[in-house]
Amino acid sequence: MSGVSFNKVGVVGLGTMGAGIAEVLARGELAVVGIEINPEALERGRGHLERSTGRAVKRGKLTEEGQRAILDRIALTTDFGDLGDCDLVIEAVPERLDLKRKVFAELDRVCRADAVLATNTSSLSVTDIAVATGRPTKIVGVHFFNPAPVMRLVEVIGTVLTEPDAVTRVADLVAGLGKTPVVIGDRAGFVANRLLFGYLNQAAGMLASGHATHDDIDTAMKVGGGLPMGPFTLMDLIGLDTCLEVLEAIYAESRDRRHAPSPLLRELVTAGLLGRKSGRGFYDHGAPAAEPTAGGNGTVQPVVCVVGDGPRPARLADVPDVAIGDADLVIVLGPGAPHDAPLPPAAAEAKPGAVLAVTDSSGRVIGQAAGLDRAADVVGLHFPEADGELVEIVSTVVTGEGVADKAAALVSALGLTPVHCRDRAGGIVDALRFPYLNDAAAMLGAGYADADSIDAAMKLGCGYPTGPIADLDRLGLDRAVEVLDALYDEAREPALAPAPLLEEYRTAGRTLR
Ligand code: CAA
Repeated sequence: MSGVSFNKVGVVGLGTMGAGIAEVLARGELAVVGIEINPEALERGRGHLERSTGRAVKRGKLTEEGQRAILDRIALTTDFGDLGDCDLVIEAVPERLDLKRKVFAELDRVCRADAVLATNTSSLSVTDIAVATGRPTKIVGVHFFNPAPVMRLVEVIGTVLTEPDAVTRVADLVAGLGKTPVVIGDRAGFVANRLLFGYLNQAAGMLASGHATHDDIDTAMKVGGGLPMGPFTLMDLIGLDTCLEVLEAIYAESRDRRHAPSPLLRELVTAGLLGRKSGRGFYDHGAPAAEPTAGGNGTVQPVVCVVGDGPRPARLADVPDVAIGDADLVIVLGPGAPHDAPLPPAAAEAKPGAVLAVTDSSGRVIGQAAGLDRAADVVGLHFPEADGELVEIVSTVVTGEGVADKAAALVSALGLTPVHCRDRAGGIVDALRFPYLNDAAAMLGAGYADADSIDAAMKLGCGYPTGPIADLDRLGLDRAVEVLDALYDEAREPALAPAPLLEEYRTAGRTLR
């Protein structure tokens, strides 16, 4: 590596993140000192390092010699004194301010006066850590994402006390390691966690309320939202204890009740169900993969009729229409608004036992079902992406037993991926993604980070296919405001009101980027 002013880097704490960071540094050919609190923890850290690099060897991404060279570059120790000649030390101990301050006091004592000390905190205040040391000008935040060897984002945080040179040197180091640094100020959650955790917490609340199952929410966000992982798989990867800590820290600053940890998350943590690392969290990681919850049995031959004047989702373009009276599934293309218009009279000609499915952009189906003789046969079909394969099957309080499952089986035979949810604004995908997009617009409006940094954070830190600012432009600001207004009307939650910046650009007829 060239042009980097750090040669020897210490890593304190070799849990999942610390070990990942040590591996990244060693892969960048730096000499690393990895430190743990006692020999048992040190052995666990060695295990993380061997497993992660061993996995790369198994996949043919690394030779055994390459693995040995990486591991040889990491000196493992329990003695803080061994950090004395490091140029930079990165702390990656659990997210407790008292613990981090204790570690920094020790680092302050043993490290050279010119050494830069960095914290990998996810959400604690870097300033709070800095002021407890004798060298606040040399304290930075350096926030990696899980799994550290894979995710390309590193947030580099300077406080009002940090000397600019320390921030620049750390950002250069990060770039030299093949990662993308996003340099920002010290606010709880920084960019990525501040945007990610409101969404994760909302998903937990959605599950607890019985709106949808965790499998269906995960499928919806992967297939319909294009994310690499659904929220529950991701929380299990991050660790539910970490999720709880991050949410508490963000809430302490935001005082936004959407960041108050879901009681379900707290219950799982109290029970010791922490996700992948404990073997069970939202999912049981020892159990065989669950069967899909809806449809897909391949035996249903769908006899479908499409009626109505609303827009036809692309995936329904080639469905051959049959007469209404012969169809098992009558899809009524709704205009999207008004949402309380009853079904067109033609739907009444459907045969007994047929499912009446209304497409609707808001997830309010009851207005169209209520008052009909056949209200029990009515479900909603909600396509979050007009040309996507995900369809949300929306049940109302009057939908008959088995009707939604029948609808799911029929639409899966059409090659669509169905998930189930209740009749609430935004269904699953829109209800989860638009508040997150609104938060990103609010962050941009507040001047904390620019559009490039916000988009890079979510793409490179969390593997999103597009960043939120670009996504708002793609989905359209009109639609964003429409869905947010519907969500706000339902929950009367101030933070769900469209961000002023969104309204302003929309009124101006301009895109955000
Ligand atoms: N450690 C090391 N490498 C890993 C790994 C791990 N735990 N998991 C996956 N990989 C590697 C694989 O070896 C593979 O590498 P190659 O392409 O070189 O072979 C690559 O990642 C892709 O892995 P897979 O094909 O097995 O799996 P995938 O395609 O499903 O991708 C993923 C896995 C990269 C984790 C992807 O699902 C993803 O991007 N998920 C989102 C993760 C995310 O959002 N992270 C941020 C969490 S928030 C956070 O960390 C901040 C905080 O403060 C809490």
